[in-house]
Amino acid sequence: MQRGVLVTGGAGYIGSHTTVELIKAGFEVVIVDNFSNSDISSLDGIERITGVRPTFVEADCCDKEALRRVFEAHDFQSVIHFAAYKAVGESVAEPMKYYRNNLLSFMNIVELMQEYKRPNIVFSSSATVYGDAETLPVTEQTPRKPATSPYGNTKQMAEDILRDVTAACEGIVGIALRYFNPIGAHPTANIGELPRGVPNNLVPYITQTAAGVRECLSIFGDDYDTPDGSCQRDFIDIVDLARAHVVAIERMLAGKNRARYEIFNVGTGHPVSVFELVNGFEAANNLKLNVRIAARREGDVPAVWADTTHANNELGWRAERALDDTLRAAWAWERKVRGIE
Ligand code: NAD
Ligand code: WQD
Repeated sequence: MQRGVLVTGGAGYIGSHTTVELIKAGFEVVIVDNFSNSDISSLDGIERITGVRPTFVEADCCDKEALRRVFEAHDFQSVIHFAAYKAVGESVAEPMKYYRNNLLSFMNIVELMQEYKRPNIVFSSSATVYGDAETLPVTEQTPRKPATSPYGNTKQMAEDILRDVTAACEGIVGIALRYFNPIGAHPTANIGELPRGVPNNLVPYITQTAAGVRECLSIFGDDYDTPDGSCQRDFIDIVDLARAHVVAIERMLAGKNRARYEIFNVGTGHPVSVFELVNGFEAANNLKLNVRIAARREGDVPAVWADTTHANNELGWRAERALDDTLRAAWAWERKVRGIE
């Protein structure tokens, strides 16, 4: 079916928001997820927003026979492959967990696409592939730096696999989307990020601090060579990011791709510092956070943000949501999760 999409990891943070946008655009979605970092509540949330409950198969993408049954039973032209582990620090401590899950799941998907003649794939890549770039903002041509974590390495390796497979196999078209820092939640607060344990990422740490779950937000470093001394990132609203997947799929279905493998940065194109984000969160939500300055976090790059010209021109996509709306949505979601009025 032309407008069928298999969404692996569709119960997760980015996958659930993308599923909503796909359904809104008239796609029929089949989700495969093993709930290793999510739960059924995101499917309920998708249904509350769209009125549609996507077809769901609980399976591990590393289990090729289970995936094969999905390819046998469902007719889709396109795959969006989100299923992966994503904790950078954990990947350093347990590299094989990351290489196995992130690469095996991806290779299974690509092999089954070849076998069942399903042509289109969007792969979730990451700004982490740029590392500490020499020039900013980064374009898709900015050289990748050697990965500094097994997680980052799985993204580089999967990009390379996709490049090689699309070069060798006329039947497969791929788009790698390099996400910058996805933040926020659906404006209806029906779906959002559900980190397990202590969050690694800034915005969930902020919202949990605001909710009183964490005592104090540590700002990792105020002595970087940046305008205010804190790190700079490109924080992209989750719904804007989700929309980029829909246009990527539409591009491939319409045969508008210029090559069988394309890469797009998905960010706002604007740097925001950690201090600016924290202050922005306080102002947007009219509250005060308990904050302290801490040492730099190992592995953090001082600054990275996207040049989004390629996505703007070729996909006709750009980030639209204002940062304060995103930060209000992030807090509304945390309040909902915690039952705070
Ligand atoms: P997430 O953990 O919320 O979602 C991933 C989903 O995949 C989860 O629902 C998890 O249960 C599922 N999953 C993991 N391994 C699986 C497997 N073997 N079989 C089936 N399901 C499996 O993470 P997310 O933030 O939504 O990230 C989605 C993708 O985007 C990942 O590939 C991640 O590496 C990438 N990415 C995320 C970010 C970010 O900051 N969130 C940035 C860049 C790239
Ligand atoms: C952002 C900034 C921290 C927490 C990570 C992955 C990257 C990609 C996106 C998957 C940094 C600072 C954070 C805190 C802080 N994911 N910070 N206090 O590190 O830019 O990117 O997520 O592909 O690969 O590395 O995001 O949200 O962890 O940090 O001061 O409690 O916030 O030092 O400068 P990061 P982040």
